[in-house]
Amino acid sequence: MAILSTLITTIPLLATAFAAPNQGHYGRLPKDLIAPHVQALPYAPTNFRPAVPQRQHGHGKVCTVQSGSRDAGPHIIAAARKCNHGGTVYFPPGDYLIASAVDLTFLQDIDFAIWGNISFLQDAKYWETQTFQYNYQGAKFFWRFGGTNVNIYGSGKGVIDGDGPYWWGAMANDSTTQRPILFGTDGLHHATISGLTMRNPPNWFNLIANSSNILISDLSLQVDPQPKATPAKNTDGWDTYRSSNVVIQNSVIVNTDDCVSFKPNSTSVIVQNLSCTGSHGISVGSLGQYIGEVDLVEDVYVYNVTMANAGNFARIKVWAGAEASADGLSGGGMGSVRNVTYDHLYSDSNDEVVTLTQCYYSVNQTMCDRYPANLEINDVTFKNIWGTTSKKYDPRVGSLVCSSPEVCHNIYASNIHLEPPSGNDATYTCVNLDDSDLDINCV
Ligand SMILES: *[C@@H]1O[C@H](CO)[C@@H](O)[C@H](O)[C@H]1NC(C)=O
Ligand SMILES: *[C@@H]1O[C@H](CO)[C@@H](O)[C@H](O)[C@H]1NC(C)=O
Ligand SMILES: *[C@@H]1O[C@H](CO)[C@@H](O)[C@H](O)[C@H]1NC(C)=O
Ligand SMILES: *[C@@H]1O[C@H](CO)[C@@H](O)[C@H](O)[C@H]1NC(C)=O
Ligand SMILES: *[C@@H]1O[C@H](CO)[C@@H](O)[C@H](O)[C@H]1NC(C)=O
Ligand SMILES: *[C@@H]1O[C@H](CO)[C@@H](O)[C@H](O)[C@H]1NC(C)=O
Ligand SMILES: *[C@@H]1O[C@H](CO)[C@@H](O)[C@H](O)[C@H]1NC(C)=O
Ligand SMILES: *[C@@H]1O[C@H](CO)[C@@H](O)[C@H](O)[C@H]1NC(C)=O
Repeated sequence: MAILSTLITTIPLLATAFAAPNQGHYGRLPKDLIAPHVQALPYAPTNFRPAVPQRQHGHGKVCTVQSGSRDAGPHIIAAARKCNHGGTVYFPPGDYLIASAVDLTFLQDIDFAIWGNISFLQDAKYWETQTFQYNYQGAKFFWRFGGTNVNIYGSGKGVIDGDGPYWWGAMANDSTTQRPILFGTDGLHHATISGLTMRNPPNWFNLIANSSNILISDLSLQVDPQPKATPAKNTDGWDTYRSSNVVIQNSVIVNTDDCVSFKPNSTSVIVQNLSCTGSHGISVGSLGQYIGEVDLVEDVYVYNVTMANAGNFARIKVWAGAEASADGLSGGGMGSVRNVTYDHLYSDSNDEVVTLTQCYYSVNQTMCDRYPANLEINDVTFKNIWGTTSKKYDPRVGSLVCSSPEVCHNIYASNIHLEPPSGNDATYTCVNLDDSDLDINCV
């Protein structure tokens, strides 16, 4: 404890600090240390309440984490404990190596100003026994954030670097290598996450789990090009799970898997003004994979997104009845996809732009028709979509495949203008749905 306390300096931050920058320690604090005012625009869920910056109600402490130690983990935890209830944990520019799991699920009224570069010990064997582990998709965290009223911001300076090439290399050697998610929330409520650069995650970039009223803005997510033998793997930008009232906006993502993915029980989620390159699109699901489970994705609005060189753009994936799958065990889960809208999408050379399937992983359409999904899809809109596709499925630009009209209602498509490279008219595959609400060329 004695060692820790010397590494954390506590500086009272008074309201007058910025008015009189040369008094005491205050002059040395970066002017922009206070949490930026980020707002969900142009859309926000009803009753959306992300965090209030601490200066508005805190005791005003700053707890500085020193860079360059062999393991920043304990220092980060100590700083967060010291500055909890109204203070700011500050990472000055420099390198922070996290070499032990960091549990920050006790947070209450606290800000994190990250101006440095945070990375994690490159030791897959060691982390195997150290990470926070979850049942859902084998998710693992190096560190996790939970609590209430929290701002985490990099103001364009902070970097969270996953050193992905190490992990993808380890995976090429041993496919069972466990790879943690770069940034995780578990039970975080009323929070903003902004202004950070995230690079080369071992696995997904972000998992927002058990959380609500989260505003994510002005992030840059980047996967660097990799050698063929050690490709980047599972680098989803954001996955939301058991979370509601989430806004993800104003960010640029270059990756190799889903740009955003709405996993089970994601409700009232808005995605707006993103630029995604190289991804698998903005996906609902997959849902309904497990018999006996109930998956909900409801009230999702995806607006003003540009997507380039991706496999898919707008995509909804639901498993058919279990009997329709090759193993007879996967699929057949219950639940619903309801009120999902994709609006103002700009497509640059993506393979398929509009995709809805309720026959995910079914061996074939005959089997899917015979054993339709238990998970219903209702009120899905694809509208105001422009741009080009790649030559992969030319002239097809979309497919809307339900397993039965009984479990797939109110699917709308309108004002879609996509140009396949051949110059032929764009076509869509449409199966088992009422096409009277579809202003597209179903073939
Ligand atoms: C961050 O630190 C890690 C580990 O030292 C290093 O590999 C990485 O290049 C750094 N990233 C940036 C953007 O400085
Ligand atoms: C993978 O194996 C190669 C060859 O044996 C080795 O050089 C490399 O260090 C290994 N990478 C990891 C991350 O274990
Ligand atoms: C979410 O909450 C549930 C129920 O409390 C818990 O079992 C689970 O571990 C939490 N985290 C994740 C990522 O699922
Ligand atoms: C959209 O996001 C980009 C990239 O983050 C940002 O530069 C731009 O200001 C955002 N536009 C709006 C209207 O917020
Ligand atoms: C849509 O995104 C573009 C590019 O990021 C941005 O310039 C524009 O202002 C956004 N439009 C709206 C209405 O938010
Ligand atoms: C999702 O919500 C439904 C309805 O509340 C619940 O039955 C189900 O267990 C939840 N699923 C998960 C994965 O939390
Ligand atoms: C559909 O979802 C959007 C976005 O969350 C929401 O604003 C709207 O009120 C929802 N509509 C209905 C009918 O629930
Ligand atoms: C679909 O798959 C089933 C089960 O494998 C097979 O019996 C059937 O012949 C297939 N039908 C078509 C049209 O391929």
